[in-house]
Amino acid sequence: MPTLLHLDSSASPTDHSVSRRLTARFAHAWRARHPDAHYRYHDLAADPVPLIGAGYASLGVRVERQGAPVPLTDVASFATTPSEHQEWSLTHPLITELHSADTLLLGVPMYNFTVPAALKAWIDRITFPGAHTGRLTATRVIVVTARGGGYGPGTPREPFDFQTPYLRAWFTEHLGIPDANLRFIHAELTRAADIPALTPYRDLATTSLTTARTTLTDLATA
Ligand SMILES: Cc1cc2nc3c(=O)[nH]c(=O)nc-3n(C[C@H](O)[C@H](O)[C@H](O)COP(=O)(O)O)c2cc1C
Repeated sequence: MPTLLHLDSSASPTDHSVSRRLTARFAHAWRARHPDAHYRYHDLAADPVPLIGAGYASLGVRVERQGAPVPLTDVASFATTPSEHQEWSLTHPLITELHSADTLLLGVPMYNFTVPAALKAWIDRITFPGAHTGRLTATRVIVVTARGGGYGPGTPREPFDFQTPYLRAWFTEHLGIPDANLRFIHAELTRAADIPALTPYRDLATTSLTTARTTLTDLATA
């Protein structure tokens, strides 16, 4: 049974969030295409994943020292303190939820050139040592970004895009997801409509949004 895991991380509500509206478009089309499939949704901004604590770090170090990946069902046996048990009880369900998904859909606004802290909290928690070894090689990932400015190829701000290279490195190196399974869909210049200095870029913003919408519908129904 196909499973879509949909995560949003914009601090803004849907009527003010480009990334939320775009991920909703994909999810709607995907669910229409797969009416019997499983669908899981988390709003990481409204319902944040707790930041990792000392117990997470100490448990992770102990597990990592085993050398070989420890099966998820055995990790709890390595916990020696209430804090480590508590941290693992917060972490394990999120990891198994990711493993059960065929498709991961992420809504990612650009905040200060990179991903929102709400998303980073989820990333830090699920990247437990050895947890994903060989588990995500068939997972498809759709990353929808929204940026107030423009960071496309050849633009002056391209070197300031710390979202795409960061997420690509994390997905491929830490999660083991093949690069071919990753798709980045960017809505650029989302603030062109209301920031006077960006007025000359309104047409580019419109084109970017239209392309993002079409691409997401195509990907969801493919
Ligand atoms: C805290 C904060 C930081 C931001 N930092 C940047 C930035 O570094 N570069 C940029 O182009 N836009 C920046 N923006 C604008 C957002 O990327 C833009 O409004 C985007 O559409 C937000 O996604 P959303 O519409 O899904 O909420 C920032 C917005 C906020 C609220």
